[in-house]
Amino acid sequence: MRRADGLIVGVVGATGMVGRELVALLESRRIPVGELRPFSSGRARSAVRFRKRTLAAPGVSRAALSSCDLVFLVSSDEVALELAPALAALGIWVIDDSAAFRLSKNIPLVIPEVNGGALRRDRRLIAGPNCTMTGLAVAGALLHREIGVREVRLASYQAVSGAGKAALAEMFSQYSSLSGLGPEPDGRAPVLRPGTSSVLPRAIAYNAIPQVGRFGADGYSSEETKVAAELRKIWSAPGLKVSATAVRVPSIRGHALSAWLTLARPITLARARALLAKTPGLVMSRDGGYPTPRSAGGQSPVYAGRLRRGTTPKELALWIVADNLLKGAALNSVQVAEELLRRGWLKPRAR
Ligand SMILES: NC(=O)c1ccc[n+]([C@@H]2O[C@H](COP(=O)([O-])OP(=O)(O)OC[C@H]3O[C@@H](n4cnc5c(N)ncnc54)[C@H](OP(=O)(O)O)[C@@H]3O)[C@@H](O)[C@H]2O)c1
Repeated sequence: MRRADGLIVGVVGATGMVGRELVALLESRRIPVGELRPFSSGRARSAVRFRKRTLAAPGVSRAALSSCDLVFLVSSDEVALELAPALAALGIWVIDDSAAFRLSKNIPLVIPEVNGGALRRDRRLIAGPNCTMTGLAVAGALLHREIGVREVRLASYQAVSGAGKAALAEMFSQYSSLSGLGPEPDGRAPVLRPGTSSVLPRAIAYNAIPQVGRFGADGYSSEETKVAAELRKIWSAPGLKVSATAVRVPSIRGHALSAWLTLARPITLARARALLAKTPGLVMSRDGGYPTPRSAGGQSPVYAGRLRRGTTPKELALWIVADNLLKGAALNSVQVAEELLRRGWLKPRAR
């Protein structure tokens, strides 16, 4: 792309699930991009579309990244570990969506509407949060600020795009190979064999898999552990108790959460509803409505519904859905960049 006034922006992983959303957002949200430099693994000849042009997305060039103003890393933990510290040391703003730096002490982990105050002018490497935790961190932020959340119990119903493009392709192919499936000739429901998968731990079509990531010695999966640790960091709540069960389900995009929040003191449902209604970034369903992965997919906000009393006057139950690729990743990163621009810490250059 020809260089114009504005930012030189690198996107590492531009051909992935998150990367393609990110490139589209850079265009639709009018980020002042003077030149876009997209990169992929370089294993295939890849390209992305940006402002009606096709841009090659080759393997990473450190030299090309070193002269960027802003670099989005939407690739993997390994790639982020290799590139991010060196780029940030050059003074380049680096926004990383991997898990590599989220819990590092001096690296801000930021959802702008929840803890934008954690951004620092001299901390050029910024981590974006886990996509499962983001919906909860946004939805519960005001309840936490006004009343205090002491304990969270959570079950997630996570879309396959959350595991990347290979997982999504595999799900589509599994459904294609089962396209003739229907009731048995005698009208009984078919029984499917467990099936195999090369990307996810089990076949995902017509299934639900209670494993997202690897299991640790305590029996929790890495996703469940991340949700707990990142929520404590984002809410500045080191003592928050969290127990999560992360489940992969065959939805395409949009992670759904069933959450039980125990507050510091009893709350009426009316007060809880009022706080949720004015929570930044959250759209609360009215009149008994509720969001689903299909209604929230492709949308920017976090959605919630089905507010109920839990088992005690201090406990609330809530259903939350957010698009994992947008608010859970690409959109959040772009919003961080917008905040840096708004503060004047990141400035488009005249060329
Ligand atoms: N998916 C989500 O909902 C979500 C949410 C939050 C955070 N994240 C994080 O965002 C990152 C990207 O996830 P994704 O779902 O978009 O994955 P993905 O669909 O598998 O895409 C991965 C991207 O990284 C590129 N890549 C792979 N190896 C590379 C290398 N050695 N050097 C440079 N680029 C390389 C791939 O290029 P090729 O096209 O050439 O393979 C592709 O563009 C991950 O860190 C993930 O944890 C994902």
